[in-house]
Amino acid sequence: MPTLLILYHSRTGGTAAMAQAAYDGACAEAGVAVRLVRAEEAVADDLLAADAAIFACPENLAAMSGAMKEFFDRAYYPALGRLEGRPYALMVCAGSDGEGAARQMTRIATGWRMKPVSDPLIICTYAQTPEAILAAKIIGGEDLARCRDLGQMLAAGLLMGVF
Ligand SMILES: Cc1cc2nc3c(=O)[nH]c(=O)nc-3n(C[C@H](O)[C@H](O)[C@H](O)COP(=O)(O)O)c2cc1C
Repeated sequence: MPTLLILYHSRTGGTAAMAQAAYDGACAEAGVAVRLVRAEEAVADDLLAADAAIFACPENLAAMSGAMKEFFDRAYYPALGRLEGRPYALMVCAGSDGEGAARQMTRIATGWRMKPVSDPLIICTYAQTPEAILAAKIIGGEDLARCRDLGQMLAAGLLMGVF
């Protein structure tokens, strides 16, 4: 059975909700094993064992969040040369931008010679004040539906062998 890994970090819950929605969408496709794993707990073998991956994290200080970077730092060389052509997608939860985090993760996946199957999905929460930025995030239904669709698309593509 093909396996889809959804690997994510979240500080205030926004990315966690996005990752859960992608997981729910992927699970709608019977015949794909879907794994939802936190970046802090993930190891290179989780990625090596997956046929496709979604990487998801917040943008912090114009970059991917530190915990996500830490995963890539741990996994990059153990996985190098062993992921060629594997399909992936990115999701970023951001206050108002998200491009920096998406660009950094794209570069790493490109280094692994993985294959993007869609443009990065960036969801903005528009939190501006320190209080709002540190508060728990609620992602709207339309945005969650986009995450759900992305998960389902990846799972369906794996099943059909289109990637
Ligand atoms: C330390 C810190 C730095 C941040 N820097 C950015 C940034 O550079 N660009 C941006 O769009 N949002 C930035 N944000 C906002 C977060 O990306 C936003 O709150 C997002 O919803 C967090 O996702 P999470 O709920 O999964 O942790 C920052 C938040 C924190 C806590």
